[in-house]
Amino acid sequence: MKRNSERLDDLRARLREDALERGISPRDVDLLLSDLLEKPIAFLIAFGETRVDAAPVEALLARRYAGEPLQYIRGRTEFYSRTFLVDTRVLIPRPETELLVEAALERAPRGARVVDVGTGSGCIAITIERERPDLRVFSVDRSVDALALAAANRARLESRVALATSDLLSAIDGTFALIVSNPPYVPLAEYEQLDDEVRIHEPRMALTPGPRGTELIERLLDEARSRLAPNGQVILEVGYGQEAAIREIAAMKQYAVDAFLPDLAGIPRVVVLSADAEQR
Ligand SMILES: C[S@@+](CC[C@H](N)C(=O)[O-])C[C@H]1O[C@@H](n2cnc3c(N)ncnc32)[C@H](O)[C@@H]1O
Repeated sequence: MKRNSERLDDLRARLREDALERGISPRDVDLLLSDLLEKPIAFLIAFGETRVDAAPVEALLARRYAGEPLQYIRGRTEFYSRTFLVDTRVLIPRPETELLVEAALERAPRGARVVDVGTGSGCIAITIERERPDLRVFSVDRSVDALALAAANRARLESRVALATSDLLSAIDGTFALIVSNPPYVPLAEYEQLDDEVRIHEPRMALTPGPRGTELIERLLDEARSRLAPNGQVILEVGYGQEAAIREIAAMKQYAVDAFLPDLAGIPRVVVLSADAEQR
């Protein structure tokens, strides 16, 4: 018998109860135990008599109780049914961003060039390229640190996405059938009010571009105009309550709003834009 070991079913019950009392999902306990034991969650239930050392999982839970997101503690998350490495260099991919991927996959012409601006973990670009190997997918980010992690995800997922450090589109050439982006869009005042879990742990550069929240979108639409192939589209994820502002910016910059797609909560979340032909 291991020293300081405890029956798995006792340990699990104790930690799950403790988590609940602290307002943390008991599922986090299961996921961390499953990671440490390198066994599926079903093992925790079926082999409760196994003796395990409590210290490692308690150390991970201490980080969780201190507010660190579960995905950073685990070092990975799921996006569009693939596992992506994540750490504090990148935003944790959110489920609603899968809608942006769907919109791009539906609209990308065969063999087209597609660029993902602000790639972070690479979740959008790598998913698009893996789902549609006919496409030539590029991804850029201003953060060299984020790109290093995107490169690790590219290698793990055997993707051929081209990565480049770039302020928006400035460092890459050519035109694109689709310019996609989940840009930082949280207005600064709202950013200051975000939960500690997000504000303290996730990169500020990934979340807020400034007071309006639309600063980067405005710049990207200016740059995108000369970088769209004929009939090309810009597909953007936008924030809660930003639909009216985005429609106004699009009109001002002479883009047509081809679609505004709601997420599963019914929030207008992804906008599909095309530049008026005579303005290109
Ligand atoms: C909201 S995160 C999106 C990350 C990832 N695409 C996703 O959907 O999970 C925005 C990303 O844009 C990058 N970014 C911020 N300003 C940028 C700029 N001027 N040019 C390029 N990338 C930028 C950030 O470093 C961050 O990785």
